[in-house]
Amino acid sequence: MTDETLRKTLETHGQSSVLRFWSSLDDTQKAKLKSQLEDIDFQQLKALISGQDKKQDFAAMAAAAQSPPSVRADGSGASWTLAEAVACGERALSSGEVGAIIVAGGQGTRLGFDQPKGMFPIGPVSNRTLFQFFADRLVAVGKKYGVVIPLYVMTSEATDSETREYFQANDYLGLDPNQVRIFKQGTMPAVDAKTGELLLAQPDSLALSPDGHGGTVRALQRNGCLDDCDARGVKYLAYIQVDNPLANLCDPALIGHHLMAESELTTQVVRKRYPTERVGNVVLVNGDVQIIEYSDLPDEAAEATDENGELKLWAGNIAVHVIDVDFLKRVSQSVDALPFHRASKKVPYVNDAGEWVEPTEPNAVKFERFIFDLLPQAKNAFVVESLPSEAFAPVKNAEGAATDTASLARQAVSDLYRGWFESAGIAVPEEVLVEINPRFALTQSELSAKVDPDLTIEANVYLDE
Ligand code: UD1
Repeated sequence: MTDETLRKTLETHGQSSVLRFWSSLDDTQKAKLKSQLEDIDFQQLKALISGQDKKQDFAAMAAAAQSPPSVRADGSGASWTLAEAVACGERALSSGEVGAIIVAGGQGTRLGFDQPKGMFPIGPVSNRTLFQFFADRLVAVGKKYGVVIPLYVMTSEATDSETREYFQANDYLGLDPNQVRIFKQGTMPAVDAKTGELLLAQPDSLALSPDGHGGTVRALQRNGCLDDCDARGVKYLAYIQVDNPLANLCDPALIGHHLMAESELTTQVVRKRYPTERVGNVVLVNGDVQIIEYSDLPDEAAEATDENGELKLWAGNIAVHVIDVDFLKRVSQSVDALPFHRASKKVPYVNDAGEWVEPTEPNAVKFERFIFDLLPQAKNAFVVESLPSEAFAPVKNAEGAATDTASLARQAVSDLYRGWFESAGIAVPEEVLVEINPRFALTQSELSAKVDPDLTIEANVYLDE
């Protein structure tokens, strides 16, 4: 694009002010700003700024919401048994048809940890990082089913280089380097909330932020990961967020339910612990499975109960999905497959006088896509309930918060394994923390088969390979 064309494009879309420092930039700086601007779909941005794309009436959606098609934790809701699902999932795993994807992008501001969240130490006894948790799990699952499970890790601008260095410096955490593909999600520009003008982070660069985990679809396709799946014969991707140490990555039961339901996208949920829990609500509206985010759900709808006095909107999204690769290929062909969500945020910027401003109130709008907005487009979208104690202990908030902190997650991990020891007939004193590496035992029955029932636990225990 010539400078003149760029200037015209910006003029047409009311964004000329972004070039206000142009004459003071050197050639390298000009090239940088220009390439960022060339990446923007101005037509789309204009529609987003003017709100033309806004269609969702969440209150109305919540009012019409019904329980989604699901298999409940007690096995009800499906015409097949758990054992059948597990056998089916195990077949897919053994045939090498399953890959894993961890989204580890974003900016991670809430936790107050200045490295990528995947590098956060979470093992209650071992101090293993979140990335190490999932790598150990993949090694164990791969060994059990006699396959190498490819791992795709999505990073963002903020987490990419440190994540790569971390994997390299730590021997790929026990995985084969050929098994791991790290790829970066895209960005979206932030705009001034009042004027809709693009914000500058520097005279030569835009205020950009990650495009949300919905960016996974485009990023997988752009970075050749979907082709890589094809080349390896991978038909299903087990998807998790990096922030949940209890996420059962590549769980045969979940994969099996997905296959038995002939679904293109299956979501694992937990029964919400309280009505306004900060999780997405998986619902059925007008025949489509979809998610209403906690931030969009009116309290009244969150608290509504059914004839049994149970929460009407019970299914809390834990962001663990199984997705068909063919489905991802199909939706990645369409630029508008996923809508954008707006978030009002404090975004530091360079003002007209060239001064750096750190706002104390939200001044900008950011645009993000969410992966779960694929649900309404998926054939036979399906929901699988699991127990929070076995599947969900997210690390979101800094210590001191009432929910979703690292210490609560560490305790949850230890509590899960305490239950395993107790089922093996081994008592664990109240104050003791216990942890099991999946490379030692992937399931409770593997632990029972391996551990001496006369074992006495008096201090913290970490069972490693
Ligand atoms: C998210 C879900 C919510 C779910 C909850 C479960 C959204 C909008 N909501 O909420 O429905 O109940 O998790 O824990 O996602 N990430 C990226 N790139 C991005 C943004 C996020 O990779 O651009 C990844 C990060 O690993 C992050 C994770 O997604 O840890 C979750 O994102 P976050 O913004 O923290 O979502 P929540 O509000 O916690």
